[in-house]
Amino acid sequence: MKHFSVMLEESMAALDVKAEGVYVDGTLGRGGHSLAILQRLKNGHLYAFDLDETAIKESKERLKAYTNITYIHHNFKDMAAILKEKVDGIILDLGVSSPQFDEAQRGFSYRFDGPLDMRMDQSQTLTAHEIVNTYEEDALFKILHNYGEEPNAGRIARAIVENRPIDTTLKLVEVIKNALPAKVLAKKGHPCKQSFQALRIAVNGELEALQNFLDTFDNILKPGGRVVILTFHSLEDRLVKQSFKKLSTVNIDKHIPYLPDAIPQAAYRLINTKAVISSQEELALNHRSLSAKLRAIEKLR
Ligand SMILES: C[S@@+](CC[C@H](N)C(=O)[O-])C[C@H]1O[C@@H](n2cnc3c(N)ncnc32)[C@H](O)[C@@H]1O
Repeated sequence: MKHFSVMLEESMAALDVKAEGVYVDGTLGRGGHSLAILQRLKNGHLYAFDLDETAIKESKERLKAYTNITYIHHNFKDMAAILKEKVDGIILDLGVSSPQFDEAQRGFSYRFDGPLDMRMDQSQTLTAHEIVNTYEEDALFKILHNYGEEPNAGRIARAIVENRPIDTTLKLVEVIKNALPAKVLAKKGHPCKQSFQALRIAVNGELEALQNFLDTFDNILKPGGRVVILTFHSLEDRLVKQSFKKLSTVNIDKHIPYLPDAIPQAAYRLINTKAVISSQEELALNHRSLSAKLRAIEKLR
């Protein structure tokens, strides 16, 4: 099957790869964005992070023609601490990849039966099974409410606690469906989408990782360097939007008479004032692009 990377052209335009530059792909996956960067490099270098060893193994094979890439099996949240040199650009294409979703054994999907796993990094100990089967009702409620924005978080949390043990994805689907009122089940879209999203975010600490990245990338970005982030739900997008807004604005005290040359300037500029969304052509080809938003920022000095 053809591999499809979300907003590939748009993200390359926003990253504006320099042939001699040093770049980071924080979410290697199957290497689609990495390949596009490598094709634009001459003497430059690419660092590629992924939590998932299978993704790294498969991308190594796919990108074996390139020697100017370093693979790092680690969370991108620590990239500023791990990398020993400053970089010209960073891309993040957040969330779970299609191969992770489509592999029943990984436990990400409410469509296939599998163990309740949901770990991107299979060397991690915390799994969805542990959360579903051991967390208190209140902790489950908070996960479903905060990370899934699930309006029926209370009912679902209670049903989970009452129906333990829950060992598989499809058993969890059944428990969630039984907990929901008929009018919710009659709505469009899968009734378990938000609960599964919430559990996945909790298992992988996804929002903490993103926030830590947003708080620290400045330490490794060169002036003129760019950060491009593709998000897939409103919680992620909100964090990126707020952080980029803060970096690209400066509060000027109107009571201070600055000389024209001394007016405080923001250290960053937004490359697109509004989030970029996928083209109609892309939307027709890839359902994952439907919820994608691209935001990009440039460091000025
Ligand atoms: C949507 S896929 C990336 C697809 C890739 N851009 C492509 O074109 O093939 C996201 C990948 O990022 C990885 N990932 C997600 N969060 C991560 C994190 N905090 N640190 C490192 N890798 C992460 C996942 O394991 C997954 O392989």
